[in-house]
Amino acid sequence: MEINLLSGALGAEVKGIDLKDSSIENWNKINSLLLEHKVLFFRDQKISAEEQLNLAKRFGPLEKHIYVKGRKEYPEIIRIIKEPDEKRQWGETWHTDVSYNPKPTKVIILKSVEVPPVGGDTMFSNMELAYESLDEKIKDKIKDKKAVHSSLGAAAFTESYKAMEGNGNLDEYSNAHPIVRTHPETGKKILFVNSMYTKRIVGLDKEESDEILNEIFRHQERLDFTCRFKWTENAVAIWDNRSTHHQGLTDFFPGRGLGHRRVMDRIAIEGDNPN
Ligand SMILES: [Fe+2]
Repeated sequence: MEINLLSGALGAEVKGIDLKDSSIENWNKINSLLLEHKVLFFRDQKISAEEQLNLAKRFGPLEKHIYVKGRKEYPEIIRIIKEPDEKRQWGETWHTDVSYNPKPTKVIILKSVEVPPVGGDTMFSNMELAYESLDEKIKDKIKDKKAVHSSLGAAAFTESYKAMEGNGNLDEYSNAHPIVRTHPETGKKILFVNSMYTKRIVGLDKEESDEILNEIFRHQERLDFTCRFKWTENAVAIWDNRSTHHQGLTDFFPGRGLGHRRVMDRIAIEGDNPN
């Protein structure tokens, strides 16, 4: 096995592990690497949908997206498609997947099906480091506080993306989670808000809540907390959605990144109630 760290903050590219093997022994190796590096990348993994599902099930029960239709034959797999002429794609600013759910996603397994020759890299950011390095005064202000996360409604996930199809659910809802959560497996503290879904701090007036959240969001964008992955076909990223943020870069500019299809198969594993 060979492990290459992607940055000084998080992320490792792993060689010598076959993701077709969903045995408990292989999963144990993957999970302990995941807890250590927070996001793992594997290249040249020609795994089938069933093999991707089998590996995902080792992490726990699979989660269905509340708004978006999965693949016809595999409803737990969402096929994320950006058509060649589209300048936008899913997940294009920093976020944690479905943080508005009572139990936000634990782990995501994303496999590339078609990748543009350039553009559409994915970035990840380490929210344990973001918490550790946060200003002590802010830490004090958010101690024991919760924040409300909003699901934004179905349109946010389908309207601007040609190939992303809704499942008919139009309800919008929100849930409050601790701003600082403790990782259920490592015991580490994590800054668990994100600028995409987190709307306000419970118990504070709007002005103070906005001020604190904006300062935290700015802090979370620090590039030294991040790593970046350039996709190749049949690459797989597995990330811990509890301790990281991510975004798919939308650098599809005319004459360079624009003009290519980008297709990914996403499986989400259900998490727990953050505390
Ligand atoms: Fe995402």
